[in-house]
Amino acid sequence: MPVLTVVGAQWGDEGKGKIVDLLAEQADYVVRFQGGANAGHEVVVGGQNYVLHLVPSGILHPRTLNIVGNGVVLDPDSFLKEVGELTARGVKVKGRLFISPRAHLTLPLHKALDAAREGSKGQKTIGSTKRGISPTYMDKAGRVGLRLADVADPDYCLSQLKTSLQEKNVLFRHLYGAKTLTARTLWKEIARAAHDLLPYMADTEGMLNAAWSSGKRVLLEGAQGSLLDIDFGTYPYVTASNATAGGAATGTGLGPTRIGYVLGVCKAYATRVGEGPFPSELDPRRNQALRELGGEYGRTTGRARRCGWIDLVALRYAVQVNGLDGLAVTKLDVLDSFPEIEACVAYRVGSRTLRHFPPTTAELARAKPVTVRLKGWARATTGARTQAELPKAARDYLRFIERESGAKVALVSVGAERARTITVDPRLKGWRF
Ligand code: GDP
Ligand code: IMO
Ligand code: MG
Repeated sequence: MPVLTVVGAQWGDEGKGKIVDLLAEQADYVVRFQGGANAGHEVVVGGQNYVLHLVPSGILHPRTLNIVGNGVVLDPDSFLKEVGELTARGVKVKGRLFISPRAHLTLPLHKALDAAREGSKGQKTIGSTKRGISPTYMDKAGRVGLRLADVADPDYCLSQLKTSLQEKNVLFRHLYGAKTLTARTLWKEIARAAHDLLPYMADTEGMLNAAWSSGKRVLLEGAQGSLLDIDFGTYPYVTASNATAGGAATGTGLGPTRIGYVLGVCKAYATRVGEGPFPSELDPRRNQALRELGGEYGRTTGRARRCGWIDLVALRYAVQVNGLDGLAVTKLDVLDSFPEIEACVAYRVGSRTLRHFPPTTAELARAKPVTVRLKGWARATTGARTQAELPKAARDYLRFIERESGAKVALVSVGAERARTITVDPRLKGWRF
């Protein structure tokens, strides 16, 4: 069953883009299955940096076909801008990039609502990317959204937009003091984008099932991370979609029985952008030091990422809710200069010690990390291409992560470039799963 799913095992920005690009070399298809332009996946190839938001991270391999699945929320402006930039840099996109007709559209009304809700005093600040993600999924669940295929039917679009705006304009005018919108103006913008967007529409669910039947290699690419998942994340400080492996089936049209391997990507430490509890977060001085070493600034919003030690309570939980077959541990090199490393193995909440991830934010916000100290390796790891070439303390750290998380290390990343990688699990080399 040559279908591989790659998900984030922490709070996003684990280096999924690098890992997907690397594995995409062997893939026939790379498929994004959830999220939208809130994602920022940086891929470094031959010294060139590419930041992908909606386009799957397989686009830099000329032979690989790329699909934006039905589970993704697609912002037409953002998508067309990204495609334009890639094309200008010599990446051939036409004929290699397809969008599901069932993908919901993120419209200016969703972005306006996201910004208004984030800026409003009465609302909880989530620290969203303001890319309209949650309002688009709200309209999808509220059954007033527009899907890509609908764009061919102006009357239906106008009627859906009118229904959606009936409620939204009351909020804009009376709650947020923001400008109201009309269905006609929105439709004009959609119609303009439709001309450029519709050529990318294809029967992607059919394509993927045919690909599976003929033994083609398919990689399903997650955005965000398990702890931002709408069900399993640190609710309400989460994104609006299923970033865990279950979302790979509902977001592509490939049934769960087709998926042969789930790879979870985690950094050798932890980061989080936006609000919400983060038990292993470092004090401001060490937070800043790790941020500079790891270049931890958001690739979508430019915000400083909050930094901390690896959280093995959270990782254990991510291993379970995704059914991870292996871990890709990234940015090991960022810890190269540390004489000593800490790792969070449990939480103290009042007088209790927790080894499991609590379901409520209130409990997690009170959790104090129980950390263990491990020997650092204080040596460069960027040149290592096998585990044996890693310093002993680095290998010990990886074994410690395995013991505590319950998953095997399948891949280690020691730099942003493709070559700076150690593939441990032979199944990932031959795509045998
Ligand atoms: P994603 O959202 O999960 O794809 O991650 P981001 O691209 O937002 O953030 C990860 C950052 O770390 C990117 O700038 C990558 O180029 C970079 N990166 C990925 N793997 C490594 C690694 O092993 N070492 C270092 N130093 N940087 C890495
Ligand atoms: P990638 O794919 C890190 C965070 C936001 C905010 C919360 C909700 O690059 O790993 P949203 O805009 O989705 O409503 O924001 O989720 N967030 C991310 N954090 N990486 C991401 O994507 C993220 N996408 C959303 O900062 O806290
Ligand atoms: Mg990112």
